[in-house]
Formats: sequence, structure tokens, C-alpha cells
Amino acid sequence: MWCVSLQRRCLHSTLRLMKKLKSKTPAEQRWLTRQLKDPYVKASQAQNFRCRSAFKLLEIDDKFRVLKPGDSVVDCGAAPGAWSQVAVHRVNSAGTDPELPRGTVVGIDLLNIPHLDGAHFLSSHDVTDPTTHAKLLELLPNSQAHVILSDMAPNASGFKEMDHEKLIMMCFSLIDLAEKVLQPGGSLLCKYWDGILAQKLQEKLSSVFGGVRILKPNASRKDSAERYFLARMYRKPVK
Ligand SMILES: C[S@@+](CC[C@H](N)C(=O)[O-])C[C@H]1O[C@@H](n2cnc3c(N)ncnc32)[C@H](O)[C@@H]1O
Repeated sequence: MWCVSLQRRCLHSTLRLMKKLKSKTPAEQRWLTRQLKDPYVKASQAQNFRCRSAFKLLEIDDKFRVLKPGDSVVDCGAAPGAWSQVAVHRVNSAGTDPELPRGTVVGIDLLNIPHLDGAHFLSSHDVTDPTTHAKLLELLPNSQAHVILSDMAPNASGFKEMDHEKLIMMCFSLIDLAEKVLQPGGSLLCKYWDGILAQKLQEKLSSVFGGVRILKPNASRKDSAERYFLARMYRKPVK
């Protein structure tokens, strides 16, 4: 009896899903089907992360220990806030563990970022805008950050080369931001889409950081050009 009722419920939700899919464009159908099958989407729902990208940062941080309790972190392109959730936990910025030093997390996005305990958010702010930098300096203890994270991405136009260039330019602007807020020895983790300008960015990063790695976490879809540069041991340029 219980089994029959369960089967009925499954059939009902499958029919509802098919109906939902029917009203979508083919591209939307592909996206929805992929989301429904994605284990990271399921895991993010189960673990209350705001989106699946949390697992990319978790994986990178588990391997390279970028975030430490007490650190100050700037999260660029933070909406909806999954990376900030990870950062808040890892740097103890909500003070959850009273035994550990308490860190700071400041998230910035063009979009609204819903409230998160332990984080300050600059919603409707452009990371590349100097007025945002001024506000950021006020929010960071001693106006300094140990880590800059960036999962920023422009709205994809569909033209690969153009999107690649746009994101690379945004990453270059993070090097200017680093000059203002990143403390010597600090780290920068930034997303880019692979393409012809990636090497130029890597060279620029290598000129101001002690070491630069290219990362492709398992949670990053295999068929996407998404990669991350992890640059460590910042050397502030002397003027
Ligand atoms: C892939 S999402 C980030 C997801 C986020 N890491 C998370 O875990 O919730 C990329 C974000 O970059 C933001 N973005 C793009 N350009 C930006 C800019 N110039 N300044 C601030 N945010 C920007 C977008 O609004 C978008 O929310």
C-alpha cells in the first residue's frame, strides 16, 4: 500500500516536471535537465548552500588551505553568497568557534546578496569601481585583506572570445584591487574562462605573486572553459 502511494507520488512529480519542461525553450529544458541530474546541485540543497559553486571553493580550500581562522576575505562577485558561506565558516567570521580568532568577510556584487551572518555585503556595487574600493577599505580591519576571492563572471553573450576577454579584463582589475587592499604574503583566487589572453594574465600575476597555479576543481563542469588561478605570496609593488 505504502509502495503504491509512493509510486503514485513519483509519477505525479514526474508528470509535473514534464509539464514544466514542455513550457520551456529547448535551451531552458537542457539547463533544467542538467540541474536535476547534477549531484552538486543536490548536495548544495542538502547542505544549505546557496548554490553549487560552494563545492569548488571547498575543494580548493581543502587542498590548498587558502582560508584560515581570523583571515580577512574579500569575495568579488559574491551573489547569491555560496562562496561567502564557505568563507564565513573557514575564517570564523560569525564567531561560531570562540576558541579561534574571528575573521572578516566582505562580499561585493552588482546584484543583491541576501543577508548572511558573519558577512558584510556591498550589494549593487561594481568591483571595478574605485568608489567600491573606498567602501571596502573602511570595512576591512586595518584596511587590509589576507585573501581576495573572485568567482565574478560577466553575463555570457554567447560569443566565447568576447566573454573570455571581458572576464580576463575583470581579473586584471583585481590586480589593481590587490594593490589597494591585499597584504604582503596574501592570496588571490580568481575565476577565468580559458582562451588566448589567459597566459598574459598568468604572466602579470606571476610578476606580483610568489607562485601561480591553474586549478580546475571537480565541481567545475568538464565541458566548460572555466578555470581558476590561485596566486599566493603577494609582493606589493614598491612605488
Ligand atoms: C558565478 S556568480 C558568483 C557565485 C558566487 N561565487 C556564489 O558562490 O554564490 C558571478 C557573479 O559575478 C557578479 N559580477 C559580474 N561582474 C561584476 C562586477 N563588475 N562587480 C561585481 N560583481 C560582478 C555577477 O553579478 C554574478 O552574481
